[in-house]
Amino acid sequence: MNKKKLAVLVSGSGSNLGALIQAVNGGVIKNAGISLVISSRQDAYALIRAEKAGIPALCIRQDEHILEKLGKFEIDAVLLAGYMKIVTAPILEAYKDRILNIHPSLLPEFGGKGMYGMRVHEEVIKAGAPVSGCTVHIVTENVDAGPILGQATVPVLPGDTPDSLAVRVLKEEHILYPRIVGEFVDSFLLNNDQTLSSWKSRL
Ligand code: GRF
Repeated sequence: MNKKKLAVLVSGSGSNLGALIQAVNGGVIKNAGISLVISSRQDAYALIRAEKAGIPALCIRQDEHILEKLGKFEIDAVLLAGYMKIVTAPILEAYKDRILNIHPSLLPEFGGKGMYGMRVHEEVIKAGAPVSGCTVHIVTENVDAGPILGQATVPVLPGDTPDSLAVRVLKEEHILYPRIVGEFVDSFLLNNDQTLSSWKSRL
């Protein structure tokens, strides 16, 4: 059976990209491969990770151009991993229900416009939340508000700083994202007649 083709959109260090590459190589993601990495920033270390893994890596900022490349590489689904730009309509329409994102909080808490990176952990600590975590969700036109596919929780410990909390959450991201992507490929992408809502019923 032909493996599904994934593209990963990045902007920064690419630690989630690294975890996804390991998951493909290690069999956690069995029926898909990463065919393309696109970064919004030329200086993203994620591009180095892609090149080291032998994956085509491009720096593109315009969504129309990104969409053209996704078509050229026959991409089946798009994974945002530390991607700092908002995905606009041309890509959302072409890949409806087939764009995933990982967010470093337990959505719907601490999500939405402007809530990304360290700002999320700062707000969690400021709010005195006893737990935090990460969320994998479908990307829609409403930032961080698409259907949730999976979450992992971590405790917020006394004396935690945004940095110490970020490290604990990121560790869980690297486990959760590959697991959910593997399930998404096996039980949704491979069943073309499947609708997201029928698949989501498994949640
Ligand atoms: C992580 O906190 C992730 O949750 C968010 O972007 C940050 C950096 O991710 N989406 P990465 O190391 O570039 O994968």
